[in-house]
Amino acid sequence: MRRSVFIKTFGCQMNAVDSARMLSLLSAAEYRSAASLEEADLVLLNTCSIREKADQKIFSELGTLRRWKQRRAGRLVGVGGCLAQQAGESLRKRAPYVDIVFGTHNIARLPELVRKAGELVPSVAVAMDGDTGHWEVPPYLPDGTYSAMVTIMQGCDNFCAYCIVPMVRGREVSRPAAGILAEIRALADRGVREVILLGQNVNSYGKKEGEIPFHELLRRISAVDGIARIRFVTSHPRDLDQRTIGLFSDIGALCPHVHLPLQSGSDRVLSAMGRGYTRAEYLSKTDALRRARPGICFSSDFIVGFPGETEDDFRATLDAMEAMRYVSSFSFRFSPRTGTRAAGMDGAVDPGVSGERLRRLQSLQDRHSQEQLAGMKGREVEVLVEGESARGDGRLCGRTPCHKTVNFVPAGGKGPLRNVLVTSAGVHSLVGEERG
Ligand code: SAH
Ligand code: SF4
Ligand code: F3S
Repeated sequence: MRRSVFIKTFGCQMNAVDSARMLSLLSAAEYRSAASLEEADLVLLNTCSIREKADQKIFSELGTLRRWKQRRAGRLVGVGGCLAQQAGESLRKRAPYVDIVFGTHNIARLPELVRKAGELVPSVAVAMDGDTGHWEVPPYLPDGTYSAMVTIMQGCDNFCAYCIVPMVRGREVSRPAAGILAEIRALADRGVREVILLGQNVNSYGKKEGEIPFHELLRRISAVDGIARIRFVTSHPRDLDQRTIGLFSDIGALCPHVHLPLQSGSDRVLSAMGRGYTRAEYLSKTDALRRARPGICFSSDFIVGFPGETEDDFRATLDAMEAMRYVSSFSFRFSPRTGTRAAGMDGAVDPGVSGERLRRLQSLQDRHSQEQLAGMKGREVEVLVEGESARGDGRLCGRTPCHKTVNFVPAGGKGPLRNVLVTSAGVHSLVGEERG
C-alpha cells in the first residue's frame, strides 16, 4: 500500500504554495495525501517564525507529534519552512524525534530526504544556496479549482527593522518570466480563472535580474486566454510605481483590491522601521490608484507597539486608517525577533499599552469593514466560485473582485463566474442570491 503524508501549514501564502509543491513532489515519490493526522505515515510541518507566538504554536505542535510518532512504528516527522530554516540543527536537539529538518531553499530535496529518513538516516538540510529549482515544481491543485497561487519571486532584500523574513527566506530572487507564463497558461488550460502572484515585494520583480519589470509581467499575464482575474501580494508602498498604478485603468482583469501594508501612520516610526516611505507618499500613491480605478479597495498590515511608539504616533496610525478606510487589515503587536535590528532597540512599549492600542485599532477596522460590507447591499457583483458554503446548506461560496467573501443561493448558473445580488451583509462576509 502507498504511504501517506499529512502536511500542516502555518504562516503566509508563500508557505501555502510551498506545501502544495511538497505534495506534488511526494506524489511523484509514491505518497498519497492522508485525510487525517491519524491515518498518516509521514507528517510535515511547514512552519512560520514571523512572531514569537508563531514559534510557540509550532513547539506545542511538536509535542503532540512526539506522541503521534510513538503510537505506530515507522512513522516519520519532518519540519520545513521558516522556523526550520532559522533553527536548523538546534531543532533536532530540542525535538530529537524529528527525522527531517528542511529549510526554505531545500524543498526540491524532500523526496530524497524522506527516503533517507525511511532508512533511519535523519537529515538537517538548511543550506541557503539560493536554490530556486523548486519553483518550477507545479504546486498540487485539486481538480475544479478556479483560483491558483503562482510564485514569482522568493526572499527579500528590504530588511525592515522588525522582520525575520530576509533571514529565513534569503535574498530576493525573481523567477524567470517564461516559467511564470508557462505555469499560468497550463493553469488556464485546466480551468483556472484567477491567479494570485506571490512574492515578498512584488513591485521590485525583475529589477536585480534584468528580467522584464513587474508591470510588463502583469501585461503579459493579462493576455493569457482564460485568465479573468489577476491579484498580487505583497506590494511594498515604496516600490509601487506609476506604470503599475496606470495598469489599473487599462487592464480589466487586474482586481480592484490592493494589499498595501502601511505598518504605521507615523513618519517617525516608519523611518525607525526602515520602510522607506512617508505617510504622505503612501497616501499619494493610493490616491493615484483610486483615480486609476474608481472603487478600488485596500487592505493593510499594521504593527503596534514598535519600540519608541508614543500615543501620538499611534494616533497617527488611527488617523491614517480613518483616511484610508481599508476593507480589512491584519494588525499585530510588535514581537522582537532575534537577529533583527529592532530586537536591540530601546523604548520597549509596555505590553498592557500595546495590547490596548491593538484593540483600539482593530475595533476601528471592524467598523470600517462592516460599513463597507453594508454598503454593498442591493448591488450586483461578479463572484468567482470557490466551493460550497461552509455550512453545507446548498449555498455556494466565492469572492467578489474586491476579495469579499459571498455566500449565495445558486440559481442554476454554470461555470466559475456568477452574477450575484447582495441581499445582506454580515460582520466579515456578504449573503446573496444568484441572478438567473
Ligand atoms: N512582505 C510583506 C510582509 C511579510 S510579513 C510586507 O513587506 O509587508 C507579514 C506581516 O507581519 C508584516 O506586514 C508585519 O505587519 C508583520 N510582522 C512582521 N514582523 C513582525 C514582528 N517582528 N512583530 C510583529 N509583526 C510583524
Ligand atoms: Fe519583511 Fe519588510 Fe521584506 Fe516585508 S518588505 S518581508 S516586512 S523585510
Ligand atoms: Fe511566516 Fe515565513 Fe511567511 S516567517 S509569514 S511563513 S515568509
